[in-house]
Amino acid sequence: MHHAKLDHFPDDFLWGSASAAYQIEGAWDEDGKGPSVWDHFTKIPGKTFKGTNGDIAVDHYHRFKEDVALMAEMGLKAYRFSIAWSRIFPTGKGEVNEAGLAFYEQLIDELLKHDIEPIVTLYHWDLPQALQDAYGGWESRQIIEDFDAYCVTLFKRFKNKVKYWVTLNEQNVFISHGYEHASHPPNVSDKKRMYEANHIANLANAKAIQSFRQIVPEGKIGPSFAYGPAYAYTSNPADVLAAENAEDLNSNWWLDVYSWGVYPKAAWKYLEKQGLTPTIEPGDEALLKAGKPDFMGVNYYQTGTFTNSPLDDTFSNTKANHDGKKGNFVEGGIAGQFKRKRNEALETTNWDWEIDPIGLRIGLRRITSRYQLPVLVTENGLGEFDKLEANDTVNDDYRIDFIRKHIEQLQAAITDGVDLLGYCTWSFTDLLSWLNGYQKRYGFVYINRDELDEKDMRRIKKQSFHWYKKVIETNGEQL
Ligand code: BG6
Repeated sequence: MHHAKLDHFPDDFLWGSASAAYQIEGAWDEDGKGPSVWDHFTKIPGKTFKGTNGDIAVDHYHRFKEDVALMAEMGLKAYRFSIAWSRIFPTGKGEVNEAGLAFYEQLIDELLKHDIEPIVTLYHWDLPQALQDAYGGWESRQIIEDFDAYCVTLFKRFKNKVKYWVTLNEQNVFISHGYEHASHPPNVSDKKRMYEANHIANLANAKAIQSFRQIVPEGKIGPSFAYGPAYAYTSNPADVLAAENAEDLNSNWWLDVYSWGVYPKAAWKYLEKQGLTPTIEPGDEALLKAGKPDFMGVNYYQTGTFTNSPLDDTFSNTKANHDGKKGNFVEGGIAGQFKRKRNEALETTNWDWEIDPIGLRIGLRRITSRYQLPVLVTENGLGEFDKLEANDTVNDDYRIDFIRKHIEQLQAAITDGVDLLGYCTWSFTDLLSWLNGYQKRYGFVYINRDELDEKDMRRIKKQSFHWYKKVIETNGEQL
């Protein structure tokens, strides 16, 4: 759809930026914090790029005031961050750690002092290790109660200060990487266990939303989903069907449950034949239906392109690129369902992620048409090598170009009819990229550290910092 004139961004549009506790805070065992599964996983040799971990990360725990001052200087309207469950409950449950709550309260107060809307993510992957040890974390229904108790503690404490809440960050990622690819904790490769754990996570998500309705009736809550809309490689109907399969198995499998409390039919039947469907107990469907969110959080980085794959198809397993050497990515698929192909119409980053601003608009449109929900873009950004040059300058014009093109598509999507609450870039400062170390940088603010040397971790404003400041000042008029 082409528009002769675009709608303006709404006056209360949340121009934001985002982060996650493990990737920025450091202070991994300070002030009573218990270990999380990531504190353990990153210490397993060979799991992360150059063995990097978040023990110190970018030291946000000690420098949060300096970081918030930079957000205020930029004029940020919203900041999305996550709370580390094991700071609040060091063993996942039981006695609350007041020092953990106090840290986040100070951060929230600091944001509010500068008129920055806090958007709190309840879970960004750092499960308390104690719950993993006690009952296998997401594989036990006990977690539904424990996650709810943790969320309720935060709802009660911050209900008068925080309006926007995100339940689970990228359930599709932490579940598939954790239980299929063994590239995230708990380091498992077993599809049956993956679908069971995923169903339990769905129930935990719904239960937390149900409690939220009682405690924070004026607030807004939703999950953040890693959405990569599926394209067909060609107009051959067999490829179009493969893309439908991919959309169902990779996206609707989660989005339908969040929005409607049901799994998509064709995907369910297919998995049932494979013996992979999760165990549904009485009451599950009612709980899932009660967990309808106020908005869909969307983390968007790229689309995926798919071609027909016959039952006897053979291909290599997906191999992700974690070192930034272009061309290392190997596309995978599921025989009989789809095979992923590189989309030749698109450029890629050094980590082989396809750059597709229009894909963001397509994704927002699909969610709007299918679920009739407002959308909050909770992540979008470019991970690249940045170079610190003389006089503390970082000329990341490629990042400006990337974000500009995505914002243009947001405006088009609003004009199409998408109810868009805001846009959080990933990320505000550079941070630890889970499996890619510190060299894959996303921030507006450069952090002077690398994989092997923490250096002085001084904060340096990149070119993109000044550019985004202007975007916010002009409410998206000046891109
Ligand atoms: C999302 C996560 O998957 O993408 C973030 O929510 C993550 O935590 C971001 O950092 C970028 O991914 P990566 O692998 O490049 O760090």
